[in-house]
Amino acid sequence: MDITRINKTAKPFIKWAGGKSQLLTEIDNEIPNFIKQNQFTYIEPFVGAGAVFFWIIQKYPNINKAIINDINSDLINTYRIIKENVEKLIQLLKIWEKEYHSLQNNIHEKKEYYYSKRKLFNKRQSDNITQAALFIFLNRTCYNGLYRVNSKNEFNVPIGSYKKPMICDEENLLTVSEVLQNVTILCGDFEKTLEYSENNTLFYLDPPYKPISDTSSFNSYTNKDFDDVEQIRLAKFCEKIDSLGYKWILSNSDVKGKNPNDNFFDELYGKFIIKRVLAKRNINANPNKRGELTELLITNSAYEKIVSIAQ
Ligand SMILES: C[S@@+](CC[C@H](N)C(=O)[O-])C[C@H]1O[C@@H](n2cnc3c(N)ncnc32)[C@H](O)[C@@H]1O
Repeated sequence: MDITRINKTAKPFIKWAGGKSQLLTEIDNEIPNFIKQNQFTYIEPFVGAGAVFFWIIQKYPNINKAIINDINSDLINTYRIIKENVEKLIQLLKIWEKEYHSLQNNIHEKKEYYYSKRKLFNKRQSDNITQAALFIFLNRTCYNGLYRVNSKNEFNVPIGSYKKPMICDEENLLTVSEVLQNVTILCGDFEKTLEYSENNTLFYLDPPYKPISDTSSFNSYTNKDFDDVEQIRLAKFCEKIDSLGYKWILSNSDVKGKNPNDNFFDELYGKFIIKRVLAKRNINANPNKRGELTELLITNSAYEKIVSIAQ
C-alpha cells in the first residue's frame, strides 16, 4: 500500500485495553516469508486501538488490501471520521482541549465539563463527527484511559486525574487519516471479515481475552460479553480460515499460567501451534497487578496450502 507521502509514524489514537505494542516482534516472527515477500491482504477482525494494524501497514508496503473490523460502533465511527473528516474532528477537539485545560485548577468545573461530555456521548444523538470527538475526548480524560460500558451501552468510566491531558494530537490524527485512506473499515461480527479474504491473506485476531480470574481481566468493550461460547465460535472460525488456506495469528490470555490444569485453549487449538510469550499489561487499576504475564500466540501453518493456491 503506497503510504510514502507520510513522514510520521501513525500510532493508535486511543488507549484501549489489550494494546499489543509489547508483542509486535513476536507477531512479526510468526508471519511466514511467503507472505512477507509477496503482495498480501491483511485482515484484522478485532482491531481495537489498532496497535498491530498501524505497525504492520507501515512496515509492509506489499499489503495490497487492508480490512479492519470491530463490533464497537463508537470506535468504528471514530476510525471512519478520521478517514473522511479529520479536519473538522481536529477543529472540535482543539476547542475542547483549550476549554478543558483552562479548567485545570478548578476541579469542580473540570468534573462538570467531563460529565456533561459523557452525558452527551451517551445520548448518541449528536452528528458522527461530534460523537467521534466525544469518543476521543473521553478516552483522553477518563480514568486510566479505560473504555467500559454498562448493559445499556453507556460509557461509565469516571473522570481521570490527568492535569493537562493531550486531547488533540493533531499530527497523529492527520497521519492516521492518510494511512486509512485505502483501508476498508467494517463494523460488525468478526465472522463477516472472511468474505474479504483473497489468495494470499493474513488474519491477525486479537479477541477480548478469556479472563484469567474473576476480577483480573477486563472484557467490557461492548455490552455483550465475549464468553466461552464466543471463544469456541472463534476457534471454529479459525479452523475454517485454515481449511481455506489462509494464514492466521491469534492472541489470547494464557489461562494455564494461572491454573496449570486449565487446558481450555490447549484443547480448543490442539491442532495448531501454540506459543507462550511474555507480555506486560498496563490497563489495570492496581499498579501492583501490572506485572508480567504469559500470553498465547496461536498460529496455523497454512504456508504449504498458500503456496499451492498461488501456483
Ligand atoms: C483485545 S481488543 C483488541 C485490542 C487491539 N488489537 C489493540 O491492539 O489495542 C478486542 C476487540 O474486540 C472487539 N469485539 C468484541 N466482540 C467482537 C465480535 N464478536 N466481533 C468483532 N469484534 C468484537 C471489541 O470491541 C474490542 O475492541
